[in-house]
Amino acid sequence: MNPIIRNMVTETTLNVSDLIMPLFVCPGENVKNPINSMPGNYQMSVDLLVEECKDLLENGVKAVLLFGIPDHKDETGLVACEHNGIVQQAIRALRARFGKDILIIVDVCNCEYTTHGHCGTVVNGEVDNDLTLETLAMQSLSLAKAGADVIAPSDMMDGRIQRIRKELDDNGFFNTPIISYAAKFASAFYGPFREAAESAPKFGDRKSYQMNPANSNEAMREIALDIEEGADMIMVKPAMSYMDIIYRAKTTFNIPVVAYNVSGEFSMVKAAGANGWIDEERIMLEVVTSIKRAGADLVITYFAKDIAKILNRK
Ligand code: PBG
Repeated sequence: MNPIIRNMVTETTLNVSDLIMPLFVCPGENVKNPINSMPGNYQMSVDLLVEECKDLLENGVKAVLLFGIPDHKDETGLVACEHNGIVQQAIRALRARFGKDILIIVDVCNCEYTTHGHCGTVVNGEVDNDLTLETLAMQSLSLAKAGADVIAPSDMMDGRIQRIRKELDDNGFFNTPIISYAAKFASAFYGPFREAAESAPKFGDRKSYQMNPANSNEAMREIALDIEEGADMIMVKPAMSYMDIIYRAKTTFNIPVVAYNVSGEFSMVKAAGANGWIDEERIMLEVVTSIKRAGADLVITYFAKDIAKILNRK
């Protein structure tokens, strides 16, 4: 009956500092390409990315996750390691403008940078796990050198956390933490993202390296390995259909848990909201609150700015 008491005994609260906003950066100047399936999200050139981050910071969202859309691709994704790569440029521009006021997390993966769209080096039609570790390590080092605060590998190769940690340490980046996409499922919920990042595989699927949505014990094994290899935080992805995995991760491991409220989850809410079938604002708060209630400490969500605005208005 009494909202004051209700607030006093609320078990889960959303804070702006829980939220991480994913952003897509592309070449050019003054470019802002709308992503059809993700209303309100854009491929942005570095100059406009900086403006977007200014707006995010003003709303209290201090952590961003960067994805690059390069102007050329190659067989093994070495494009991602170029000194003047698109994400490297973005990191330097953000750092120059905002200094340490912004936390720059970078996604590390080959799929946006390879001609075939797979997350690793393809040999005889299959992704070669161990060869891929080398490009991932190079990409991570290149991004760390450009000034990234946190490395977030999303490729799902085995052994990459250890390999990347070694590369960072050998080059003096002891203080650059790793958020591991540890329990990442082969999910149809990534559909809109692949349009956004232009990263859909040209043949086959990602089932040889991403997890079977039917498995939960395997997720615990994947997480345990990544922690042993040196992950500082672990991630569960997607989030909404994987609340049990988030809960199990949180109760099994003594480590910060990040959940990725992915593109398809976002787009479903947006589409239903646009049709007037659901109350978009309430649903988005309910979704992200539930993800936290399940056990996530941090949530990567395309709703980050919208939620921040609501929280700030309260
Ligand atoms: C890259 C990557 C993907 C996402 C994040 N990093 C796509 C994929 O694995 O196909 C998906 C994010 C989203 O759907 O919002 N490997």
